[in-house]
Amino acid sequence: MADNKFFKRSIVSIRDFTVDDFTYLFDLTDRIQTLTTNERGEIAKGLILGYIFYEYSTRTRLSFESAMASIGGRSLGISDIDSSSIMKGESYADTIKTISLYSDVVLIRHPSDGSSRYASEISDKPVINGGSGSEEHPTQAMLDVYTIFKEKKRVDGLSIGIIGDLKYGRTVYSLIYALSNYDVNIHLVSPSMLKIRNESIYDIANNMKMFHHTELTDDLLKELDVMYVTRIQRERFPDLQEYKKIQGLYNIDENVLKRCKSDVSILHPLPRVDEISSSIDNTKNAVYFKQASYGKELRSALLSALLHEKPF
Ligand code: CP
Repeated sequence: MADNKFFKRSIVSIRDFTVDDFTYLFDLTDRIQTLTTNERGEIAKGLILGYIFYEYSTRTRLSFESAMASIGGRSLGISDIDSSSIMKGESYADTIKTISLYSDVVLIRHPSDGSSRYASEISDKPVINGGSGSEEHPTQAMLDVYTIFKEKKRVDGLSIGIIGDLKYGRTVYSLIYALSNYDVNIHLVSPSMLKIRNESIYDIANNMKMFHHTELTDDLLKELDVMYVTRIQRERFPDLQEYKKIQGLYNIDENVLKRCKSDVSILHPLPRVDEISSSIDNTKNAVYFKQASYGKELRSALLSALLHEKPF
């Protein structure tokens, strides 16, 4: 097995990691699932994950907590900042510093771009970016690419559609950065007001096969091996009237599915609102809940690699 490049490192941006690092992590994710409960429960015995979420979360927080418990560690954290001393005026820097005193690794979600990078400079312990503004969500991209591997047995050569809110969706950026390590066709589908931020991908766009669309045409749907659907990020719109103009624009349902390749895999970082109909949840193409479950396994492997040079 390759060297562990995750040991004691902060996970701020997916761009800090190479395709070899992804391969190492994905192998570790496969291997951790073969351990017995007892073997797995020894990995992080006596170690603590500390977290703070300045924004709502279901999957990221709970999958990390579940992952840490499954490897024998514990979690403590703040999921409601109204109950913390931030309400007394404590600074972000002092808050992060304090959490790092009580933990072995610190998980943060924050509405500002750059918040995790800044935290990693303050924290005494490695920081994991659990979502920073519209910037990045690196562990989501790791599990997204892992899911594509599990479904398709490869990433190279695939046509991948990324659909929805490409302007504000942080998972979109981390995924595109991750996919820039592979030979893929990327089809970006969004209304014009939610197009990809070119300034965030300018250095990789020329080396990627990237195509822009505003509609899910028959020709496009017949091409895609993977559809990565995203929620329109209502909370990031400066003007809610603008959100209402494009709310519900793309809806993946049985009628759309009939126009796709029969083996298309549909992924979504979740939560969904109205962009994927629940009527397709039980089809073989709907992978989004399996993807969420891989979140626990991949984060267990990631925490193990971050906490131990030889994880298990
Ligand atoms: N995918 C994701 O980040 O989900 P949560 O917002 O529920 O954590």
